[in-house]
Amino acid sequence: MTNASLPNARKVFIKTYGCQMNVYDSERMADALGASGYVETKEMAEADLVLLNTCHIREKASEKVFSELGRLREMRAERREAGGDLMVGVTGCVAQAEGDEIARRAPVVDLVVGPQSYHRLPEIVARARSGEKVVDTEFPPEDKFSHLPAASREATIARGLTAFLTVQEGCDKFCSFCVVPYTRGAETSRPVADVLAEARRLADAGVREVTLLGQNVNAYHGLDATGRPMGLGELCFRLADIPGLSRVRYTTSHPLDMDDGLIAAHRDLDALMPYLHLPVQSGSDAILKAMNRRHTAAQYLAIIERIRAAKPDMALSGDFIVGFPGETDEDFEATLALVEAVGYASAFTFKYSTRPGTPGASMTDQVPEPVKAERLARLNAAIAAGTARFAQSCVARTLPVLIDKKGRNPGQVGGRSPYLQAVHMDGPERLIGQIVPVEIVAVGNNSLKGRIVTRVEPGSASLVA
Ligand code: SAH
Ligand code: SF4
Ligand code: F3S
Repeated sequence: MTNASLPNARKVFIKTYGCQMNVYDSERMADALGASGYVETKEMAEADLVLLNTCHIREKASEKVFSELGRLREMRAERREAGGDLMVGVTGCVAQAEGDEIARRAPVVDLVVGPQSYHRLPEIVARARSGEKVVDTEFPPEDKFSHLPAASREATIARGLTAFLTVQEGCDKFCSFCVVPYTRGAETSRPVADVLAEARRLADAGVREVTLLGQNVNAYHGLDATGRPMGLGELCFRLADIPGLSRVRYTTSHPLDMDDGLIAAHRDLDALMPYLHLPVQSGSDAILKAMNRRHTAAQYLAIIERIRAAKPDMALSGDFIVGFPGETDEDFEATLALVEAVGYASAFTFKYSTRPGTPGASMTDQVPEPVKAERLARLNAAIAAGTARFAQSCVARTLPVLIDKKGRNPGQVGGRSPYLQAVHMDGPERLIGQIVPVEIVAVGNNSLKGRIVTRVEPGSASLVA
C-alpha cells in the first residue's frame, strides 16, 4: 500500500527557494519522509509539517524566509485555536548559515536542518514531534546521499520526463562574494556507481533527460569501481549508454574546471546537449581578481573559444554580478564588452549583495545602490538583445525537441530545444516523451514557435505535420 492511500497519513509541504540543488534536495527530503509515513502535499494549508528549503545567496533570498515564518506563526496559532497543530522546519542554506539563530528569532520553528543532514530528517522530525527543538547543522562524516532512500518509481513518474541528479556538492573556490563554500561545505563527488544506479532508476521510470547538478559540477571527480576518479565528460558518456536516457545536461560550471575531457564529450556525444552555463561574474580583470575568480577575462574568452572549436553551435549562458565593491564605470564597460564578445544565449544578472562572513562584506568601497541599479538595467538590456538574436538565429532551423507537456490549447504540445528554449507547436498529446524534429517558425515571448516536420525515433507514432 502506498502512503497516499493511507487515510491518516501525515502530510508534508516543502517550499523550495534558491537553486536547482535545492529542488533536488526537496525531492529527496520528500522521499525520505515518505519512507517514514509522510505524504507530500502541494497545498500548504493541509500540511501537518511545513519545511522551508531556503537559500542564503543574496540578502533578499534570506529575508523572504523570515516573512514566510511570520505567516506560518499565524497559521499555527489558528490551527491550535481549532484544536489542531502544525510543525515548521527550516532546511537549506539559511538553516546552515544561521542555525540556532533562526530558532531564537522565530520561535515557530521546530527544527533546523542543514544540507548535509537530510538523511537524518525522519529521526529529527520524530524528535521534534515529541516536543524537542532540534537544530542539526553538522557536517556528518557519513555521506547523506548513500543514506537517503531512493525515490519510488511512482514519485519519479509523477515528477515527469526530466529530472535533476546531484553528482557533486560543495565548493572550494571561495569567491569573495559567495556564501556557498560555507553553507554547502567542501567539494565532494558522489561515486560513479551511485550516480549510474540513480540514473538507471530515473530512466526506468520514463525520464528522458537528466540534468546533473553540482555547485561546481564540472569539478566532478567521483570514484569508479576501481577507485579511479572519473571526470564529468566520461560520466556523461556512461550516462548516455543508459537505455531511455536521451539527453544529458549539467549545471553549474566554473571556467577553471572546463577540462579537455568535458570539451571532447561536447564534441563527440550527441546526447550531451549543446548548452553551457559558465558564469564569469565580471569582464574586468581587476574585479575578477578582487572576486577571487582566479582567471582573467581573456582566459575566459580563450576557454569559450576552445569550446566553440569543439562544438560550434554551443549556446552559452552565464551569471553576472554588477556593483561588486570597487567596480568603476570602466570595469562595468569591460563586462559589457565581454557580453558582446561571447554572445550569450541567456544569462542571469544580479546586483551585488553583501553577505555576512564573506571577504566582500569587509571591503570598503561598496557601490551605491542607484549605480548598481543603473548598471543592472544596462546589462539586462545587453543580455536581452543577445537572447533575442540567438532565438532569431534558430528560425528556419529544424531542431530536435523533447516534447514534455500539453500545450495551452487542445491539440498543442510544448517541449525544449537542445538549447533549453521552450518550444510550442501543434501536435498530439501522445508525442509527450518523444524527441521530434521541429522546424522553428517564429520567436514568441520567452519561447519559440515550431512545426513538427517528421518523426525521428524508431517506434514512435507516425506524425502528420
Ligand atoms: N557555483 C556557481 C554559482 C553559485 S551561486 C558558480 O561558481 O558560478 C549562483 C550565482 O549567484 C553566482 O554565479 C553569482 O552570480 C550569484 N551570486 C553569488 N553570491 C552573490 C552575492 N553575494 N551577490 C550577488 N550575486 C551573487
Ligand atoms: Fe560560490 Fe564561487 Fe563556489 Fe560558485 S565557485 S559556488 S560563486 S564560491
Ligand atoms: Fe542558495 Fe544554497 Fe543554492 S545559498 S543558490 S540554495 S547552494
